[in-house]
Amino acid sequence: MPSLAQLPAEAHHSGIREIANEAMRTPGAIRLDVGQPNFPTPKHIGDAGKRAIDENMTFYTHTQGLISLREKLVAKLERVNGIRVTPDRIACGPGGVGAIAAVFGAALERGDEVLLPDPGWPNTRLMLTWVGARGVFYPCAAADGFQPDLDTLARLITPRTKLLLINSPNNPTGAVYPAETIARLVELAQRHNLWLLSDECYDQIILDGSWTSPASLAPDDPRIASVFTFSKSYSMTGWRIGYVAGSAELIDTATKVLESNSSCVSTISQVAAEAALDGPQDCVGEMVAAYRHRRDVVVDILREADMLVNEPTGAFYCMADISRSHLHARDFAFRLLREKGVSVAPGSAFGEVALGAVRISLASSDTDLREGVGRLAEFVQQLA
Ligand SMILES: Cc1ncc(COP(=O)(O)O)c(C=O)c1O
Repeated sequence: MPSLAQLPAEAHHSGIREIANEAMRTPGAIRLDVGQPNFPTPKHIGDAGKRAIDENMTFYTHTQGLISLREKLVAKLERVNGIRVTPDRIACGPGGVGAIAAVFGAALERGDEVLLPDPGWPNTRLMLTWVGARGVFYPCAAADGFQPDLDTLARLITPRTKLLLINSPNNPTGAVYPAETIARLVELAQRHNLWLLSDECYDQIILDGSWTSPASLAPDDPRIASVFTFSKSYSMTGWRIGYVAGSAELIDTATKVLESNSSCVSTISQVAAEAALDGPQDCVGEMVAAYRHRRDVVVDILREADMLVNEPTGAFYCMADISRSHLHARDFAFRLLREKGVSVAPGSAFGEVALGAVRISLASSDTDLREGVGRLAEFVQQLA
């Protein structure tokens, strides 16, 4: 067999997948590990997908997506995110992950350095293995409420730094960065002439307060790319549709990347996405209300057990402090699954900063959350 590409071959699989795979083999396990909404895709969206099949809308579209969909996205970006773009400045991709990969492909070259949050969603780190760029991690410590340490971040910038990725609301911490932090991050990217890739896949999952899209603060800055998805807001993870908005030049180059590896997003999913944008938005609010309620339930249990790290204000995750167990997060997660039948994502899956914590996904039922987090607290107590 010829040799494999060294970096992807040597990379680890996602630490979330590792525990999730084990949980699938564990009968009766309570699953609080994956970030997959437990709501069905709203019926009017699914019906639109079925209609697309019945009406033979089953062919390639423009690489960037149907023009009718991109026109609706222009309105959504203005309404929800305060971002003004034209349809040529939007490209749809296979999920937010595909849109992020297209930006990486368009902006990065071998040897470039990319600033990524720690803790942070592991897929972006994995992407760098085939891009050939190097991840440099900026800390978002528990003691700071998982907010980025901007002074440390600035010190990590070198002449090789090409792109700064930010993710607010954040997976895994549920932290939402205040407007002043976003403004300082934009200013930093401008001062050092970096691409600023803003992963806003949880833009509509806001549990408290408000949040700010960087592109809304610097409307004409061609350095900013903003990535969104239908997966989380509309419970459409399996439909695989996300999108990126940016400058015409960046989107044109990202489109070449998309052309080369996906041609276009499934037409059926694009038609369903149009129905999501056209239809009633109550479904989004109802899901967010459920996440907020679950957040409150989990926060109460963790606070009572003295294991609360921060109160998440966005996305659907909550970190729990397991440091009193004296176990590394990965060992803890596997033992919790084996001994208590509860599966959570270890902090080690997200970098080096959260080794004393695990991530609880609020995208699970209230009953599972009460029982699972109760057992988690009991287990820490037992090991302390
Ligand atoms: C931070 C973050 N960004 C992007 C994504 C991509 O989601 P999708 O590809 O389903 O749109 C996810 C999914 O979990 C995520 O957590």
